[in-house]
Amino acid sequence: MTAQSNHRSVVTRRVLLATAPALAVSVGCRSDADPRAGGGRAPGAGGSAAASVADRQEGVDRPERPQTHVVVSVYDFLDRAGAGRTLEVLGGAVLEATAGGGAGRADGLTVTVGLGPGPVAALDRRLPGAAGLPAFAREERTARAWGGDLLVQVCAEGAAAAARADERLARLLAAEGRASLRWSQAGFRPAGAGPVRNPLGFQDGIEIPRGRAELDREVWLPGPGRAAGGTLAVVRRLRIDVPGFLAEPERRQEEVIGRRKADGAPLGGGEPLGRLDLSAKTPRGRYLVPAMAHARRANPNATGSGKMLRRGYGYDNGPDDRGLLFIAFQRELRTFTATQRRLDEGDDLMAFVTATASGSFLVLPGFDADRPLGATLRAGGAWPSW
Ligand code: HEM
Repeated sequence: MTAQSNHRSVVTRRVLLATAPALAVSVGCRSDADPRAGGGRAPGAGGSAAASVADRQEGVDRPERPQTHVVVSVYDFLDRAGAGRTLEVLGGAVLEATAGGGAGRADGLTVTVGLGPGPVAALDRRLPGAAGLPAFAREERTARAWGGDLLVQVCAEGAAAAARADERLARLLAAEGRASLRWSQAGFRPAGAGPVRNPLGFQDGIEIPRGRAELDREVWLPGPGRAAGGTLAVVRRLRIDVPGFLAEPERRQEEVIGRRKADGAPLGGGEPLGRLDLSAKTPRGRYLVPAMAHARRANPNATGSGKMLRRGYGYDNGPDDRGLLFIAFQRELRTFTATQRRLDEGDDLMAFVTATASGSFLVLPGFDADRPLGATLRAGGAWPSW
């Protein structure tokens, strides 16, 4: 049984969703309350203080300890003209599910909603997120798992909590023919602060934008404008030939990544989890971080692209389908596309990687009871067709 079907069946019928969710004014979430992001509480802080999602949605800013579990679900709107109303209903359910007090808060639940290029471009082709991703190398495309209108990313402490919340929202979206599910994937990461080990055993999430100023510059869409406070999400399910990679001697694995496996130190020398020195060479003139090492090829300096906030999770759908549920947030889609192109042109890690699901989404600006989800983006009235 796959992880997708598994997580669905586990929760089936155990979850009831109020069909007319009450709107709460603001929500709090322990594990997404990154003090660096502003408006949040220190991780682990309990109590009644609530982090507002009025400006920016949760589940993007990478907290000290990102939640251990994620479920990403991608839908198409069935009722396209009613997309605005569907977003309002969805937003109401999100506010209710993550409102202070209940199990949601204890589980560190966050829900992040994004719109695919179809519905965004229908509103205005100049909006961020109106253009989708181009084709890249090593893609196994299926119509079902490529693209999509609506992203719902649920993060929580624990597989059951994430699955339960995802299932609730899936039912809400299925009700009254609002939307149909395209694909869904559960993911996990080890508990802990800072970079954690990915399915290949390497520490992941070292070089990411950090701190409020850098996140504002690299990740969040600036104002003024209808998308201000949003960001662009790229979600890709990347199957990895894990046995093939692990069959390589550890020294070779490190050359493929560009960092030491034991402590994440750069191959060029330096502290564990330290910055790469891309110019460092051996006395004979060879790069210490090899020319085709992933961390070198992905480094933004190589193309002048911006920095992306990677918030990936491992996934495991059985021995033949394991890998990384790659999730990255950035202000411009070009940050991802320029990086992926560079990896396609040469990157020793990509030989082990195949994309089997993919989409880009405009993460909607924050919302609350007075300004429902999606309201800032559409001017009002019916959603134009796409
Ligand atoms: C299965 C696929 C992948 C795996 C296992 C993987 C793993 C890693 C690891 C271990 C690092 C070094 C530690 C760190 O800085 O976090 C890294 C760095 C990085 N990766 Fe990946 N990665 C994968 C795919 C991708 C993709 C598809 C992209 C973007 C198109 C990407 C972008 C980056 C970036 C921007 C860095 C930081 C480079 C730097 O400036 O040092 N990765 N990745």
